Amino acid sequence: MSAGTPIPRSSPTKCAKRSPITTERINATVIGIDVSPHHYNPEESVENLYLNVDNLNMPLQFHSGHFDLVNSRLVAGGIDRNRWHGYMREILRCLRGGGWCQMVEIDFNAQSDNGTITDGHALRQWSDKYRQAMSQFKNPEAPRRIAHWMRHAGFTDVEERMLPLPMCGWSENQREFDIGVANQENIRLLLGSLALYPFTELLGMSITEFHVLVAQARAEAINPALKVRSRDSP
Ligand SMILES: C[S@@+](CC[C@H](N)C(=O)[O-])C[C@H]1O[C@@H](n2cnc3c(N)ncnc32)[C@H](O)[C@@H]1O
Repeated sequence: MSAGTPIPRSSPTKCAKRSPITTERINATVIGIDVSPHHYNPEESVENLYLNVDNLNMPLQFHSGHFDLVNSRLVAGGIDRNRWHGYMREILRCLRGGGWCQMVEIDFNAQSDNGTITDGHALRQWSDKYRQAMSQFKNPEAPRRIAHWMRHAGFTDVEERMLPLPMCGWSENQREFDIGVANQENIRLLLGSLALYPFTELLGMSITEFHVLVAQARAEAINPALKVRSRDSP
């Protein structure tokens, strides 16, 4: 989240990074919110960045119109099922008139660009189990509903984009190939970390079954022949 100097609408991502804020927007103040205190590393911090430990499922502790820009990214795994409408309304309330909100979530629905992924593949099983487990408390449909919820909350000029997110370097498009290469380690890590609690605690999978499924899914994710991707939204 950011407050302070108005941010040009054409370059919202500049506010999501730390270094450009200090060099290009010296008067901007950035407030990050996370429910976990463990992300704060004083050695990596900058003087205009403040990290609040807070729960996004609770009302936001800012006065109306406080922010020029809100960047909500990869929090769908933590937002309660019934919280989304309230979350959108709260963000709108905290934005100044004419402010900007950017939301990015990953649709963890593994797909193959050449149709080679079937229900028998571990990645498809991983996706199905993740959605099944998470839907008890969260909304795995959120990445595809965000634009609708934003309009419903009162946002205007809402634009939505679904981007393929390759899991490894398989694309013939150089940019997508490079993204896949960069994403490969993220995918390896998240296939384990995102699923451990939902699969073992919520679905009752044994730890051995869990490790076998994750190992198979990881092997498929780095196989360029399968052309696997998830989708990034908006
Ligand atoms: C995938 S990480 C994304 C971190 C960061 N937003 C980013 O885009 O780099 C998800 C983060 O959401 C945080 N989180 C989960 N549930 C939350 C909640 N109810 N309120 C605030 N933060 C939450 C987790 O602690 C975790 O750091």
